[in-house]
Amino acid sequence: MSDLLHGVTGEEAGEEVSVTDRHGAPSPDEGYVLEARDVSKHFTVRGTLGRTSVVRAVEHATVRLKPGRILALVGESGSGKTTLARMLARFHEPTEGEILLRGEPVRGSRRERRAYHSEVQLIFQDPFGSLNPLHRVRYNLDRALRLHQPQLDRAGRDRRITELLERVSLTPAAEFAAKFPHELSGGQRQRVVIARALAVEPKVLLGDEPISMLDVSIRLEMLNLLQRLRAEDGLALLYITHDIASARYLCDEIAVMYAGQMVESGPKEEVIAAPQHPYTKLLIESSPDPERGVEDREALFAGADELGEPPSLIDPPAGCRFHPRCPFAMQECREQEPPRTELGGGHWAKCWLHTKGRAGELAATTHAEATAARRRTPEGAS
Ligand SMILES: Nc1ncnc2c1ncn2[C@@H]1O[C@H](COP(=O)(O)OP(=O)(O)O)[C@@H](O)[C@H]1O
Ligand code: SF4
Ligand SMILES: [Mg+2]
Repeated sequence: MSDLLHGVTGEEAGEEVSVTDRHGAPSPDEGYVLEARDVSKHFTVRGTLGRTSVVRAVEHATVRLKPGRILALVGESGSGKTTLARMLARFHEPTEGEILLRGEPVRGSRRERRAYHSEVQLIFQDPFGSLNPLHRVRYNLDRALRLHQPQLDRAGRDRRITELLERVSLTPAAEFAAKFPHELSGGQRQRVVIARALAVEPKVLLGDEPISMLDVSIRLEMLNLLQRLRAEDGLALLYITHDIASARYLCDEIAVMYAGQMVESGPKEEVIAAPQHPYTKLLIESSPDPERGVEDREALFAGADELGEPPSLIDPPAGCRFHPRCPFAMQECREQEPPRTELGGGHWAKCWLHTKGRAGELAATTHAEATAARRRTPEGAS
């Protein structure tokens, strides 16, 4: 069972996918295929009375992806994950910071965008919305091939469509190619979406909650498919999820986002075994323990939606944005943004506990116990 849970293949010692915040010093050429460097995205929105406000959806985030490696970006709904993915996919221009493909900044011309999307593909949460419902699977795949593989003639494209459907286990391929999207199950549709992404022969797949709308019974198969694709094709994969249990199952490294900011990142085993930020700790303690067995599929994906609402990104809390929910919060937390603490081996966290000599409390108690203890103190009661 633990082989299945940690069944990541093709790893090489020393290789890493890395995420830092603005204090990280990304070096220009470390084999990263795709990098979002210190990116922010602010949206201007108009309220009911016509007043404008700024939504700080992502602030100073750095994501770096390496071939053959899977990075999970974890955070509850509204934390900025999709906005970050859309910047990486170049559907949003960053307000600040830049996107680099193999160390080169990417520009905005139409031709360059097409070239970019030949290398970087985004898979959306809703497989139905991302396929053309009026056309059969064959057409949906053929269109991607015509656009990105113009050297293929019709027979070549037909062969490729068969190969692609077989790769995502939609067999017999001819039968699936002839179906309309509405004739497929959710899982089959998401397989078609993945096949279409692969048609482009990308180097990077960005999966934005690719399994969250699928039936629980087929989520594990989809994760296994993604894992197989990165092992076989050496794809760099960003796996976005609000569900730390599936991240734990799939990825090599975890990055945690809270309220538009990255709060912790590091190798999966370390982050899961010894989270160094109270929010990561809360996510882990709220998710099912995989040691109970991945055969229990309901349990693997349970608990992911029970964490409550994140704060406003228009007027986020001062200091550490997690402080209103944090049972360890101190005066500094309410006033100043915590610094980033390097913990070794690529693991880092942004939390005042580390600079105040209180990091040991994270391992000594649970979030629930710490919250109960906080309520008993004068500060917590006030
Ligand atoms: N196009 C947009 N215009 C205004 N606000 C947006 C837009 N896209 C996202 N947001 C806001 O940005 C924040 C982060 O959203 P999102 O990136 O979708 O988070 P997540 O994917 O983690 O749920 C949310 O407050 C959301 O309402
Ligand atoms: S900085 Fe303070 S409020 Fe923020 S997570 Fe750490 S202890 Fe909690
Ligand atoms: Mg999202």
